[in-house]
Amino acid sequence: MTLVGALAVLFLLLALYCGFDPFGHSPIADFPEFEALKVDLPAWSDVPTDADSENLLQKSEIKFLNQVQGPESIAFDPLGRGPYTGVADGRILFWNGHSWTDFAYTSSNRSEICNPIASATPFSYVKNEHICGRPLGLRFDKRTGDLYIADAYFGLMKVGPEGGLATSLTTEAEGVPLRFTNDVDVDAEGNVYFTDSSTKYPRRNFIQLVFSGENSGRVLKYNPATGETTVLVRNVQFPNGISLSKDGSFFVFCEAAIGRLRKFWLKGNKAGTSEVLAILPGFPDNVRVNEDGDFWVAIHCRRYMYTYINGHYPQLRKFILKLPIPTRIQYLLQIGWRVHAMVVKYSPEGKLLQILEDSSGKVVRAVSEVEERDGKLWFGSVLMPFVAVYDLK
Ligand SMILES: *[C@@H]1O[C@H](CO)[C@@H](O)[C@H](O)[C@H]1NC(C)=O
Repeated sequence: MTLVGALAVLFLLLALYCGFDPFGHSPIADFPEFEALKVDLPAWSDVPTDADSENLLQKSEIKFLNQVQGPESIAFDPLGRGPYTGVADGRILFWNGHSWTDFAYTSSNRSEICNPIASATPFSYVKNEHICGRPLGLRFDKRTGDLYIADAYFGLMKVGPEGGLATSLTTEAEGVPLRFTNDVDVDAEGNVYFTDSSTKYPRRNFIQLVFSGENSGRVLKYNPATGETTVLVRNVQFPNGISLSKDGSFFVFCEAAIGRLRKFWLKGNKAGTSEVLAILPGFPDNVRVNEDGDFWVAIHCRRYMYTYINGHYPQLRKFILKLPIPTRIQYLLQIGWRVHAMVVKYSPEGKLLQILEDSSGKVVRAVSEVEERDGKLWFGSVLMPFVAVYDLK
């Protein structure tokens, strides 16, 4: 066979391999229903280009290394104790000032398969999340000391100040089950606002959710007096963090697929309507209000031209995803080929006030949530085995 002939055969085999993906390497090989939707990403010129040239997050302290796996959300109770955090094996842990103790859990069916594994990473637990639970957003009701929990698999839950097994508050809205409950906040009257990121993809398939841009996500309200759950905003592409404003007149929520912060009015003549508050420099996770009424947003990754083009051309995205390129590589392309951390602070009017980064992921590699407390920022991360703390002073 000539060299040209050999090359032709090789090329044919490669084309067949890419076309048929015989070993199921494509990230959507197991998702025959996968559909890619257009993601209306804001014009490139509207995206803030501000950066933290000093990479100040590299001055953060790494705490509790390998004592907490994937601590997504960080909360302090009304007495100022904590932090409390939900970890990858489904428990909610409490730092009593000296050590971590078990505080609460969301699954009534925990067994040895949920036990912490030595040398585990946050990813070790993913396959049993639907059995062991996966607590994400945590918030205390300041009046009662009850802890509200957004469990990715078990929906909206609550546990008393003494901890233990949480009780389910709701697992559906309008007859459609919650599939990926993500974050929660509670107002002064006890009304609970929360997000369900998707009715199609559970948390363990969040990569497919990101890639698809599908819009079944909902922002919901649970009324404790009637036990009713109502849909406030529907057709959202990956709603994620949610936070009430300091005065309770509105809440903001993160649109993780578009990279925006949206404001939903609860009081005044605009009550019941929503508007875009800010276009973020990247794709957000959780959002938390601070004492001044400003909002800290954890940015999962910056926005890149690659994601911009993929957002606008869903057919191209679907084509790339059908190639036998492993999910990990597709994910790295999505985040610009390196882990990095970024947190941004916005005023209630949507003005970008501060930006802190570790652009090379040297110290803080990823952030899911920022909780400001006594001049310090506490960073949770669903991907990391630690909590990072940054001193603002
Ligand atoms: C309870 O856990 C076992 C594994 O320990 C699992 O096989 C079973 O499906 C679980 N039941 C429910 C209702 O989740």
